[in-house]
Amino acid sequence: MSKQNDDFFKNVIAHAKEYGFVFPSSEIYDGLSAVYDYGQLGAELKNNLKQYWWKSMVHLHENIVGIDSAIFMHPTIWKASGHVDGFNDPMIDNKDSKKRYRADQLIEDQITRYLNDGKQTEAEQLQADLDQALADDDLGRLKTIIEDQHIVCPVSGTKNWTEVRQFNLMFPTQMGASAEDADTVYLRPETAQGIFVNFLNVQKSGRMKVPFGIAQIGKAFRNEVIARQFIMRMREFEQMELQFFVRPGTELEWYEKWKETRLKWHIALNGDAARYRFHEHAKLAHYANAAVDIEYDFPFGFREVEGIHSRTDFDLAQHQKFSGKKMQYFDPEVNKNYVPYVVETSVGLDRLFLTVLCNAFEEQDLSTEDKKDSRSVLRFHPAVAPIKAAILPLTRKDGLPDKAREILDILRIDYNVQYDEKDSIGKRYRRQDAIGTPFCITVDYQSLDDNTVTIRHRDSMDQERLAIAELEQMIRERTGWKTLLG
Ligand code: GAP
Repeated sequence: MSKQNDDFFKNVIAHAKEYGFVFPSSEIYDGLSAVYDYGQLGAELKNNLKQYWWKSMVHLHENIVGIDSAIFMHPTIWKASGHVDGFNDPMIDNKDSKKRYRADQLIEDQITRYLNDGKQTEAEQLQADLDQALADDDLGRLKTIIEDQHIVCPVSGTKNWTEVRQFNLMFPTQMGASAEDADTVYLRPETAQGIFVNFLNVQKSGRMKVPFGIAQIGKAFRNEVIARQFIMRMREFEQMELQFFVRPGTELEWYEKWKETRLKWHIALNGDAARYRFHEHAKLAHYANAAVDIEYDFPFGFREVEGIHSRTDFDLAQHQKFSGKKMQYFDPEVNKNYVPYVVETSVGLDRLFLTVLCNAFEEQDLSTEDKKDSRSVLRFHPAVAPIKAAILPLTRKDGLPDKAREILDILRIDYNVQYDEKDSIGKRYRRQDAIGTPFCITVDYQSLDDNTVTIRHRDSMDQERLAIAELEQMIRERTGWKTLLG
């Protein structure tokens, strides 16, 4: 990461904490690695992002419904899905520092160093070696690469490495009142399996016809070996997943449709197509016949924010095998029973949140010849902004606060609006810019005479006069879901 991008990212993280978006978890106890809490504005932004996803995926599709399945599930589900045996990261410990690393990421860091030094050929060769070792599941080879490349532990600076071992990412826990009858259950590592095991329940109770989708938003847990890059890689995070059930043979057509639909969705939110790209998977998981990531250009480079997979009938067929229950659908159009194929879209809510934060954050120099000035601004799309408008009486006297509170009462039922009377009006504008409020509504002496207010726009900082009676319509037209989904 360049120094400029590194500084920018540090500022984003500091801003997120200072203004109540994201806090390190358990901070007064020195934090808990790779776990974060969302503060008062972060929770609002996150809820708005969930709504954007739910409305576009569920409410705007006649053939998609949403569920909310439990985090705890029968342990055999994770056997059937392959997570018990195969959901592993290769890890390696340094014997001197006692620090644990992902072996593949130590090698990826070395590739990045080659690229930063302009050593393209070395980088490409090492990438090919890494890909081959991972494809072959060859842990010995990973260790040899680390030794041959003279990779040292960033903490101890030594090459005193253990063997590379597989490390399962699921968190096990005990369910049951006493030790004797306790069963090992897992905190789910993805929300998808809650959809697969409810496939028949939803299909029958909702009289759904293939093609149809089941969507879900919920927490997932992975014991990531290393935590990196703020809320990018967490141990507790949230996913928004769709499993779209289709007739076998039509899956690649649907896969292409969902690829395009999902990319457009991201671009509509953040408004900058150049910051996105597709990354097609060269090597496919054993259950997939096509897979692509939507990547966003974070300050630390392009990284996955959403995965789209054509998962064939793998999951339903596995659950059919392990549960002994038929997971089939009778298709009246072709007069046949079959296990549907599935196209999955899976976006991490926290990563999406980070795209929105990085995309919106700007530090602007507003200095003139006579005066130094600057502002921090979060240029969120108005539909997802945590606060839609701030209502600001120019002074704290002469009935202006009463007038402002009348406006607050009109708007607060339908919109998240904020009242603020502390400090000068300039300082209040800056505070609202910093939390991404698209509009400030200023109540002044003229408001008492003619029932108009000043609207100050966050991005242009322009001001205009508007009748109080027209405020509601203005907020609806400029911040409503139609501005994103219309
Ligand atoms: N059901 C498919 C599945 O879980 P995945 O690629 O492992 O696929 C999907 O995860 C998305 O979940 C990723 O694109 C990413 O946005 C998010 N995600 C995965 N692991 C994460 C983590 N440790 N922290 C934050 N987000 C994560």
